[in-house]
Formats: sequence, C-alpha cells, structure tokens
Amino acid sequence: MKRVYFLGAGGNEVLDLETLPDPHPGDEQVLLQVRYAGLNPLDVIQRNGKYPIPEGASPYHPGVEVAGTVIAVGAKVRRWIEGDRVMGLVSEAALADRVLAQQDHLLAVPESISDLAAATLPEAIITGFDALQRARTQLGDRVVIRGVNGGVGLAAYQIAKAMGAVPLGIVRSAQTANNLDRLGVTTVLEDDFVAEIRERNGADVIIELVGGAYIAQDLRVVASGGRIVVVSVAGGNEATIPTNHLLGKRVDLMGTVLRPRTNGEKALLISEVRKHVLPLIADGQLTIPVEGVFPAKSVADAFDHLEKPGKIGKVLLDFENAIS
Ligand SMILES: NC(=O)c1ccc[n+]([C@@H]2O[C@H](COP(=O)([O-])OP(=O)(O)OC[C@H]3O[C@@H](n4cnc5c(N)ncnc54)[C@H](OP(=O)(O)O)[C@@H]3O)[C@@H](O)[C@H]2O)c1
Repeated sequence: MKRVYFLGAGGNEVLDLETLPDPHPGDEQVLLQVRYAGLNPLDVIQRNGKYPIPEGASPYHPGVEVAGTVIAVGAKVRRWIEGDRVMGLVSEAALADRVLAQQDHLLAVPESISDLAAATLPEAIITGFDALQRARTQLGDRVVIRGVNGGVGLAAYQIAKAMGAVPLGIVRSAQTANNLDRLGVTTVLEDDFVAEIRERNGADVIIELVGGAYIAQDLRVVASGGRIVVVSVAGGNEATIPTNHLLGKRVDLMGTVLRPRTNGEKALLISEVRKHVLPLIADGQLTIPVEGVFPAKSVADAFDHLEKPGKIGKVLLDFENAIS
C-alpha cells in the first residue's frame, strides 16, 4: 500500500509517500481499497503541528475521511462484505490506497455515484448535517452559511434546502459568488452581509464555518431565538461578542466538532446521516463539486491548492498510479 506520511511538523517539506505491506483489519474493521482520497483543512493544520490529535491517533498519518471498496473484513464484521462500496470517517491514515475503517463509521455508497463523487462526500455531508442538526434546523428556517463554497458549506446548503429551509451562503469575492450562482447556490458578499440579512429580517440559523471575529457579526444579525453553530476556528480562536444580543435575542451560541468524538458518538451520528442524507445523494439532490484532483505523488501541490481562497468543493488525491 501507499500512504501519505508526515516526517514531522512543518510545511510541505515534511510530506512523504511511504510504501508498506497491506494492513489486516481488526475484529470490527474493514480494509478498503481507495482510488480517491479527500483532503481537509485540518490535514494542513496537522501538518503544521497545530492540530490537537485525539488520543490513539497518529500525528504523522493524515486523512480523516474515506470512500472505497471493501477488500477484507474483520472477524466480527456483520454489516459489510468484500466488494461493497462504502464511505465514512476514520480517525487517521486516510490519505492512502488502503484504509482501515470501523464497520459502523461507514455508509453504503449509492449505486448511482462514481468513486470520484463518493470521495467528495463523507466529511462534508457528516459535518454539514451535524451542524444543521445541532441548530435544530426546521422547515422554513432562514439558514445562513459562512464559508459556503467549501465542501462542508455546499453540503450544509443542499441539506438545508432539502429540509425545506431557506439557505443563503456568504462568500468573500464576486468571482466565487458567480461560480456558485452557476451551480444554483444563492450567496451574498461578506461586505454586504449585515445589510442583506437585516433586510431579510434576520437569520434563524447561522452555520459559522470561519469563526473568530465573525461571531460578533453573526450575533448582530441573528433573529430572536436564533441558533449559531461554530464549526471552525479558521478565523481565529478568540472573539469579543456583543452579549447584549446574545441575551436580548435569546440566542443559542454553540460549537461542534467530529474528530474527537467517541466511536459510539460517531456511529450514532453516521446512522442519522444514513437515514436523512443518504437518500438525497441517491436521488441526485446532493452533490459536491470537485475543485481539483492531484496524483498522490503530487501531494505537495494538493496541499498548496487546499490553502488557496475561492475553491468550489473538494480537493482530492488520486492513488491510481500509486497502487502497489
Ligand atoms: N468542527 C468539525 O468537526 C469540522 C469538520 C470539517 C470541517 N471543519 C472546518 O470547517 C471549515 C470548512 O471546511 P471545508 O472542508 O468546507 O473547508 P474549505 O473547502 O477549505 O472551505 C473553507 C471556507 O472558509 C472560508 N474561509 C477560510 N478562511 C477564511 C477567513 N479567514 N475569512 C473568511 N472566510 C474564510 C473559505 O473562503 P475562501 O474560499 O474565500 O477562502 C471557504 O469558503 C474549515 O475551517 C474546516 O477546518 C470543521
């Protein structure tokens, strides 16, 4: 097998592609053969040595989502058999052509979906659904998503729409707005956001995919009884917030994170995604665009691209010529 490896913490000079014997699944695990692997902003933060690695996971083996075909199953696996196409979350080492995954952290890939499309989905749909669920999103809610052009934002947008909510994305540039307009995604520019939301009488739900100082802005425009879910600290860890709005409008300000959750918590969330989100994928209501596909041996270019602004959807690694 081939997998991406960090030699230590730093920039792209710590990236390497190692060759190893295929691993064997533990009792509750399956081994997947993978063509495309999804990259996430946290992979860059982990490469930089700045990510709080959950207990038991390796800081040197990045990758937290997987889509592939089952090629071996552990002794206690009942849910999957060899040949099944699956996708889901793992706690480490998913930038690889062979990946071990817990059996109940996986979803069946709908037949209509290609391997490339499946690779765009797991982290985006699970995070997007989780944030909307945390916010108790309901039919008719005005849902604002900051950072809508990434994988998570586009998943949250489409899931909110399918729930009968009214989503609106926030973007930073006119170019990004135009690109999303062509995909049928309604956006407002960051600079116009406060005026625009006030004109719409506020937002019931704000999915905050940047965080930091933006949380203060969110509190100013959220509707009475509104919910703000902070999913990222990309905009900074610290925020000064107008607490008069927090209490005056009885706002629920909350956060969420996937990776440090227990196996049981992840299994529960994934079972909810199986019920509520998988049907949207199967019938074509939810797709995530592919921003770029990089050969595994060009992983440094993929990491560079991941850090660029204005991406639409997911950056993937292709292990086709890396298969051992
Ligand atoms: N809590 C969790 O468990 C969890 C799970 C998955 C992802 N996340 C986080 O959620 C965020 C979205 O994930 P993703 O995979 O969709 O990422 P992505 O594809 O890289 O998209 C990031 C989005 O955030 C915007 N953005 C980034 N930094 C910004 C800044 N300083 N000011 C304004 N906008 C900024 C980007 O806008 P531009 O295109 O203009 O740069 C883009 O819209 C990431 O920060 C990620 O780490 C959290």
